[in-house]
Amino acid sequence: MHRLDMDNQYSFVSFSDLDHRQKQQYRNIIQNAFPRIVLESKVTEEYWPRLETYFPEYQVYLTNSTKEIVAFINAIPFSYKRPLNELPDDGWDWMLKQGIENKEQNIIPNCIGGLQIIVNTNYLGQGYSRIIINAAKSLRTEKGLEHLLIPIRPTFKHHFPHMEMEKYMHYQEEGKLYDPWIRSHLRNDARIIKVCHNAMNIKRAIPYWEGLLGRKIKTSGNYVVDGALNTVTMNLEDNLGEYREANIWISYD
Ligand SMILES: CC(C)(COP(=O)(O)OP(=O)(O)OC[C@H]1O[C@@H](n2cnc3c(N)ncnc32)[C@H](O)[C@@H]1OP(=O)(O)O)[C@@H](O)C(=O)NCCC(=O)NCCS
Repeated sequence: MHRLDMDNQYSFVSFSDLDHRQKQQYRNIIQNAFPRIVLESKVTEEYWPRLETYFPEYQVYLTNSTKEIVAFINAIPFSYKRPLNELPDDGWDWMLKQGIENKEQNIIPNCIGGLQIIVNTNYLGQGYSRIIINAAKSLRTEKGLEHLLIPIRPTFKHHFPHMEMEKYMHYQEEGKLYDPWIRSHLRNDARIIKVCHNAMNIKRAIPYWEGLLGRKIKTSGNYVVDGALNTVTMNLEDNLGEYREANIWISYD
């Protein structure tokens, strides 16, 4: 992959350029960035390994002069030809599957999708996410793709697990949008398309949720789980808890 130097201090590298130590660091950064609930998705388990094998150049890492990973994006090319306001409700899960299955069926992509952007905790709040978003825009141009689409996971939504995403995405405090991640994308000229209500779906038997909650679930109903953006619906009769995570489709035009 091409390398860009910023003040000779930073480089962009792809998944194939990562050495053993950097791969380890990359895995650790992911583990530290998200709550357990989203790290244990079955879709991720099944499809993620193929993302790195099929599309190493779409995994873009910003490294510093000591080869430490500062921030990265995991992106995926995929095909989507319908109007953007009809993008699927199962946003993130759909996009990951779509990209992998398109590749396996030799379908030519016309979109690049951002699956996740993560800034190493040592470098948070210093504007690195903007550099990564710009890298994704450049990749779109380089690959000749039409759309850059991201089902974003607003970083502070877990503060309001009972609030509908439609309301949350406009929610303001002290005269500005409450969510820093929505703010960042809008500041970088993204456009909100719509909420995807079932972007990540996690269905597990009740004991799994009891493990996450650290207590017995005695009645069916909606429960707040650490780091979850919405409540989880528990149904004791069926021994099933279902988490339907709402995200927001955004587009960089
Ligand atoms: C989302 C993420 C990539 C943003 O990266 P970042 O480097 O913090 O981004 P920025 O420096 O551009 O900061 C964006 C805004 O968030 C604010 N912010 C960053 N970290 C914050 C924190 N811990 N608490 C409060 N605000 C914070 C910044 O002040 C800035 O606010 P502003 O709009 O008022 O300027 C980063 O927080 C992260 O890696 N989170 C974990 C993974 C994740 O949730 N990714 C997104 C979903 S895939």
